[in-house]
Amino acid sequence: MADRSDYGGKRQEPVSVLTSRWDVPDAHTLAGYERTGGYQVLRSVLDADPAHLRQQVKDSGLRGRGGAGFPTGVKWGFMPLDGPKPVYLVVNADEGEPGTFKDRELMERDPHQLLEGMAISGRALKSKRGFIFLRGEYLWPGIRLEEAIAEAYDAGYLGAGIMGSDLDFDITLHYAAGAYICGEETALLNALEGRRGQPRLRPPFPAIAGAYAAPTAVNNVETIMNVPWIIERGVDWYRSIGTEKSPGPKVFCVSGEVQRPGNYEWPMGTPAKQIVEESCLGMLPERELKFWVPGGSSTPLLTAEHYHDNITMDFESIQAAGSLMGTTAMMMYSHRTSVVDAALNWTRFYEHESCGKCTPCREGTFWLGQILQRILDGDGRPEDIDILTDVTAGIFQRAFCALADGACSPIDSSLKYFRDEYEYLVEHGRLPDHIERHAGPVTQNSGHLRPNHRAPLYDPEPAKV
Ligand SMILES: Cc1cc2nc3c(=O)[nH]c(=O)nc-3n(C[C@H](O)[C@H](O)[C@H](O)COP(=O)(O)O)c2cc1C
Ligand code: SF4
Repeated sequence: MADRSDYGGKRQEPVSVLTSRWDVPDAHTLAGYERTGGYQVLRSVLDADPAHLRQQVKDSGLRGRGGAGFPTGVKWGFMPLDGPKPVYLVVNADEGEPGTFKDRELMERDPHQLLEGMAISGRALKSKRGFIFLRGEYLWPGIRLEEAIAEAYDAGYLGAGIMGSDLDFDITLHYAAGAYICGEETALLNALEGRRGQPRLRPPFPAIAGAYAAPTAVNNVETIMNVPWIIERGVDWYRSIGTEKSPGPKVFCVSGEVQRPGNYEWPMGTPAKQIVEESCLGMLPERELKFWVPGGSSTPLLTAEHYHDNITMDFESIQAAGSLMGTTAMMMYSHRTSVVDAALNWTRFYEHESCGKCTPCREGTFWLGQILQRILDGDGRPEDIDILTDVTAGIFQRAFCALADGACSPIDSSLKYFRDEYEYLVEHGRLPDHIERHAGPVTQNSGHLRPNHRAPLYDPEPAKV
C-alpha cells in the first residue's frame, strides 16, 4: 500500500455517500432502505418550493456524471417549466461506455436511492413523469428496479398524491435494446419514443424539446443519486467534498490489470494513483503500468508519465493532462499489453456500434479497424500509420455526434505516445517479445462477426460464398 505522503497536498480520504448502503445486505429492499433513512428527504420536500430545490442543486455545483460533466442545475435552468407541455425527467441508465459499470452496481445495490432522487428531482422540475432508460443487458439491475418500483408504489412513495400530499410522480422503466449509441441523449429519446435509435439534430436541445417534444431533463443515474444528499445535507457539505470546480463524491470504476478491480467511491480530485494503489492494491504482480484511460475508451489514453500525485481525478486536472473525465472508468494496462491491440479492440466496438447515420463515422470506423487489423496481423505497410492519422482527421469533429470523436481517441492517443510500437509492428510484422496480444476484437464476442471481417484489406482472392 502506498504511503499517503506520496500524494503531496492532494491526498484524500475515501468517502461513503452514494455507496454508503453497499454494506447493508438488504439495502435494495424498501425495508432496508427505510431503515437507513430512505425516503426521509422526499418526505421533507413534499411542500418545498421547486425553485428553491433547483437553486440548491445549482449552488452545489453538481456536474453530470454521464460523461460530459455539464452542470446539472444550469441544465435544469434552461427548461421551460410552466409552459403548456408536461415536463419529463429521463434517467440515462444505458451505461454502454467500455469499462464503465458504476451505474449497474449503484442500481443493483441501492435502487431506491435512484427512485427517491427521481421523485425529488421531479418535484424540483415540476415533473410528474420520469423514465429510466435501462441498458437492455442489465437484467439483474432491471429486476431490482422493478421490485423497488413496485414497493415504492405500494408504500405511497410514487404515484398520485405521494405520502398524502398533492405531489404526483410516476416512473416508467424502459428496457433498451442494447445499442451504445442509445446512451447519447437524443438517440436515447428517439429510442424511448419507439423511433430508430439515432441522434437528433440539436438545437433544439432536450431541455427545450426532448421526449415527445416536451421539456426534458436527461440525467445520468449517478447524477440523480446525488440529489437527495445535496438536499438533505446542504450545499456547504456537498462542496466540502471534491474540488471547487468539480465538487462532490464520485464512483470510480477501475478495471484492467489491477489486483482488485471494482467500483470505489472517492472525492472528486483524488489522485488517480491513490485510487489505484489504495482501493485496487495497485497493478498485478510483475506488471508495470504502461497506459491507462481515465474515463472509458472514448477518452484519450494516458501513460505511466501521467500516473503521479498531481494527476487528480477531476474534470480540470484530467483535461490539463490531455484527456477527459468521461465516465471515470479507469482502465489500467501493463507493459505486457499491446496498445495497438487495445486500440483495435476498441475500434471494432465503435465500428460495430456506429449507428450508420453519417458517412465519416460509418465508413471511417470500418476502415480504421481494417488498417489496425492489417498492422497487427503483420501485413502493415509503412504508410498505414499516416493513413490512420489521416482517417481520424477526417472523422474528428466532422461527424454528427460524439461517438465518432470517441472512436478516434484510442487511435490518436496511442499514436501520440506509442508510435514506436506501431512502427515496430510494421517493420517486423510482429510485436516485440515482451508484449502479448491480449485483446480480441469485440465483434468476435458479440456474435455479429461479418463473414469477411478479418479478411485482408485488399483480398486478391474473392471471398467464396
Ligand atoms: C455515444 C454516446 C454514448 C453515451 N452513453 C451514455 C450512457 O450510457 N449514460 C449516460 O449517462 N450518458 C451517456 N452519454 C452522455 C449523454 O448524451 C448525456 O450527456 C448524459 O446522459 C447527460 O446526463 P448528465 O448531465 O447527468 O451527465 C453518451 C454520449 C454519447 C455521445
Ligand atoms: S457519428 Fe456515428 S453514431 Fe453518431 S450519428 Fe454519425 S454514424 Fe451515428
